[in-house]
Amino acid sequence: MNEFDLLNITSNSYQESCEQMRNELEKRPENQSLAQPLYNDPNMFRADLEQVFYKEWIFVGMTSEVPTKGDYFTVEIGQNPVLIVRDGDGGIQAFHNVCRHRGSTICTKHRGKVANLVCPYHQWTYDLKGNLLYAGTEMGDSFETSQHGLKKAHCKTAGGFIFISLAKEAPDDFDAYLATLEEYMEPYDMENTKVAVESNIVEQANWKLVIENNRECYHCAGSHPELLNTLLEWDDTNDPRATPEFLEQYERQAAEWDAEGIPHQHQDFDGLRNRIVRMPLKEGVEVMTLDGQQGCSKLLGRIKNRQLGSMRILHLPNSWNHMQSDHCIVFRVLPISAQKTLVTTKWLVHKDAVEGVDYDPERLRLVWDATNDQDRILAEQNQQGINSLGYQPGPYSETYEFGVINFINWYSETVRKNMK
Ligand code: FES
Ligand SMILES: [Fe+2]
Repeated sequence: MNEFDLLNITSNSYQESCEQMRNELEKRPENQSLAQPLYNDPNMFRADLEQVFYKEWIFVGMTSEVPTKGDYFTVEIGQNPVLIVRDGDGGIQAFHNVCRHRGSTICTKHRGKVANLVCPYHQWTYDLKGNLLYAGTEMGDSFETSQHGLKKAHCKTAGGFIFISLAKEAPDDFDAYLATLEEYMEPYDMENTKVAVESNIVEQANWKLVIENNRECYHCAGSHPELLNTLLEWDDTNDPRATPEFLEQYERQAAEWDAEGIPHQHQDFDGLRNRIVRMPLKEGVEVMTLDGQQGCSKLLGRIKNRQLGSMRILHLPNSWNHMQSDHCIVFRVLPISAQKTLVTTKWLVHKDAVEGVDYDPERLRLVWDATNDQDRILAEQNQQGINSLGYQPGPYSETYEFGVINFINWYSETVRKNMK
């Protein structure tokens, strides 16, 4: 909890806050930003965690981050430490990173490699499928080792992406999206990639403001000179801002992509919660580097055409991504407190690409480092204004902010559905 959260603690109980939240969402005028407490109240934040982040499918990382048996990484979903590990059969497992003895965190590093999972407290030892192997003889005759395996989280992978759900029963409407994601990601062969650069920034803003900011490019012209060297300000071919020149360019590039078997047709799932669309970058541009030219000399997977534009993959509530010909940029958003959010960005290249020879990490990261920092400032300024007595929800533009409208509608419906 940060100092601003403390300012906003009210005398409401959590239950009263949930009731207030439901009312605020029910009476919310269409296409307007949310009421103040939904962006800054700790009880509302707790409700966001419980109704969204502890129930829905959450993007946590890439399968290539755990390439071989025993490789793991950890992630915190609210108050839940979670462990992602590659098991001995090549599968990806997700466990609560919590010992079944007295509850200690088991893996305390952000990432690593282990033969077994050993709790640092009293050395209870689990295999890579979460079975308890060893608990010491002092537990007594009635102790059932088989009853003390690690608690699993639901885990699904597709196209190199790992999603988990902490719900008792995970939402069951995810598989159509995953099948399409697998198909659209096939050319990239993500299992044979590696993280070239990772950045973690903490923004002093509610997680919804971070996502809202990402879901529109209305702010791009005023804030993102580096990004706009290569990126068009709209992200769909039917956007009213698309020019005849752009549509001609799109037709030409789409024909090339078809000839190479690169999927590009726009796909939406579950409203616009999950979305995949390949968009050209500016004419002549290869990837999102400062000059638009190659970021890595090795292309990904079976790709031959350097001008694949950027395949944008959206997964609400916490990820957007740019898949390009020679590197991919994946983004993960995790709420820390009502007014604090972790934004993780990873740049992935072919696993055989050699740093300093095939790619320069500083060149690769430059545009999105700058963009992330510009977005951080925008989200923090947005938060500061929302905290003011002068804040009143304002209208979204249906032309420029349709992505924000979709996100807030999805959020509102999801919270209300899950609160029932
Ligand atoms: S808490 Fe893990 S071994 Fe005791
Ligand atoms: Fe931005």
